[in-house]
Amino acid sequence: MQSPVKVGICGLGTVGGGSLRLLLENADEIARRAGASIQVVRVATRRPREAKEAVSPDSGIALGNDPFAVVKDAEIQVVVETMGGFDPAFDVVRQALANGKHVVTANKALIAERGNELFEVAEAHGTTLAYESSVAGGIPIIKTLREGLAANRIEWLAGIINGTGNFILTEMSAGGRTFEDVLAQAQELGYAEADPGFDVEGTDAAHKLTIMASIAFGIPLQFSATWTEGIGTLEPEDLAYAEELGYRIKHLGIARRTERGVELRVHPTLISKRWLLSEVAGVDNAIVVKGHAVGTTLYQGPGAGADATASAVVADIIDIARRLRAGAARPLAPSLHYHGEARDLPMVSMDDIESECYLRIPVLDRMGVMARITRVLEQHAISIEAVIQKEVHGGSVPIVLLTHAAPESSMNAAIAELGSVPDVVGPISRVRVAPFPAGE
Ligand code: HSE
Repeated sequence: MQSPVKVGICGLGTVGGGSLRLLLENADEIARRAGASIQVVRVATRRPREAKEAVSPDSGIALGNDPFAVVKDAEIQVVVETMGGFDPAFDVVRQALANGKHVVTANKALIAERGNELFEVAEAHGTTLAYESSVAGGIPIIKTLREGLAANRIEWLAGIINGTGNFILTEMSAGGRTFEDVLAQAQELGYAEADPGFDVEGTDAAHKLTIMASIAFGIPLQFSATWTEGIGTLEPEDLAYAEELGYRIKHLGIARRTERGVELRVHPTLISKRWLLSEVAGVDNAIVVKGHAVGTTLYQGPGAGADATASAVVADIIDIARRLRAGAARPLAPSLHYHGEARDLPMVSMDDIESECYLRIPVLDRMGVMARITRVLEQHAISIEAVIQKEVHGGSVPIVLLTHAAPESSMNAAIAELGSVPDVVGPISRVRVAPFPAGE
């Protein structure tokens, strides 16, 4: 076997700690797979004293609190960045790449928002920036898009890509637990982001969607072009009405390439119960990818948590170790993008997207109210596919509608106008229907 591949880890939280544990606990198997043992030689953590349990003094691992000491260590070939955030993660990754080290990161915010700059640094220095663990935890979706489906023109992909959000929606639809209680459990289990607002408001999913779309369509990372809505406005009754209409509500990231360009959007979405995706529960993530040659494919697995994410981090390290062993000048393609015309695909604005929609409109139970509601919809050329009207609760009653497809701009105008109809007594809930037929 060849000489060991030397690794440094920056950040020993849920993901970094899990990765170190996996590298130590499965060292023999990993060495056989990689063709070289993988040796962690230096770890930087904000709390070195507390890390002594994970990094025993006889392990030979140098422990400190300065990530730049890892980046400067001449012996280290691969730097693992599991600190999260931008500061100092951006500088740590940039300096590591510029110092000739390959970098493995789990930091989706960093890749989605500043990856274009970092890939240029990697390109200029012949180094690799690998980020499998940044999307969908343990599911190898980056490799799938980049390698397994490389021959395809990707038409669309749609994914449940935030484990915390899916865990919350699953528990909400099962009933009996509060939002806060479920979120606290997700934090305890290490699923949630340091700022769980990122999970609930959709930022985390938007980061992951940005990364997948970039590979799928060969475009630069365009986080700011991703439309992002969270799950905070959903009520348990929306989940129940969706069931009655034959759907489940999931927080979905959708990327589509049409003649008009690329759509990128994250929002709660009605998915037909005939789709396997609608059954993905708990912290699991799942991504459906439609390639023009292969057809529709589905990938499912744990999307968060120490061990699942470590599985992806260590897979990237093994990949790099294998290629170093094979003498490759550059372990992996450093860039996300294709070259050539695909880089200039236009982005489709949300206003130009058409969706069928679920609407829940709380109204006073008065004569003619349904006619007044449908008149507003008709004025905006929105036709109705299905209606549920429930019994009265203290004078107000929800009208639940499923509409045919209508442009987002018409739907927004109709919702605004409905809000000023005197019978309407509360906020209108709107959930878009997934834009793919159940059979696809
Ligand atoms: N907070 C993220 C999630 C962690 O819940 O999916 C994995 O990226």
